[in-house]
Amino acid sequence: MSMLIAIDGPAASGKGTLARRLARHFNVPHLDTGLLYRATAAGLLQQGVRLDDVERAVAVARGLALTDFDDDQLRGREMGEAASIVAAIPEVRAALIDAQRRFASRPEGAIIDGRDIGTVICPDAPVKIFVTASPETRAQRRALELAGRGEKVDFAALLADISKRDERDSSRSSAPLKVAPDAITLDTTALGIEEAFAAALQIVSGRAAR
Ligand code: DC
Repeated sequence: MSMLIAIDGPAASGKGTLARRLARHFNVPHLDTGLLYRATAAGLLQQGVRLDDVERAVAVARGLALTDFDDDQLRGREMGEAASIVAAIPEVRAALIDAQRRFASRPEGAIIDGRDIGTVICPDAPVKIFVTASPETRAQRRALELAGRGEKVDFAALLADISKRDERDSSRSSAPLKVAPDAITLDTTALGIEEAFAAALQIVSGRAAR
């Protein structure tokens, strides 16, 4: 069976960490689709163009190569917020679908994480995991991550960011964040990385056995 795993979840839920661990474990390529939206936003900011300029946003999205992301520059707090804004533009989402589906159809399999992977990008993925955690836990994890990179952190501001992003990502009309009917929800609020990884492995083997 080809190993295709769709992982969705809200900002800072731990889905990225989980996806990277699973990719290493199964030795399959991993695509963090949040980076596509972050890179699109970064391109617009670099050109000094508004984030709601649909034409320019589509042009930037179409020009992205999946391989050359400068992670560190894209991972910051402002870029997450900007990404959430461009990600609400249906034309931008449409421009990014083919590249994501091509990645998903690699013969060796793929692990893809984002917001709409199980619902829109790979509705037929045999394994779908919806990773979530309480907003406070997510803000705490984001604070640790940013502090680790030397960014200043203000917990209240991070929590506010997360709520705003949850709201925007869940309420947009185009491919909103939601749990696919056949996804298994993994709540990592009370789980460490190892425990979450073990739980995810169990979900994968449970699905593979069906
Ligand atoms: O996962 P992330 O924090 O890197 O994502 C940044 C933003 O990009 C997120 O707030 C919404 C958007 N996004 C999306 O709409 N669809 C995806 N598949 C991935 C990310």
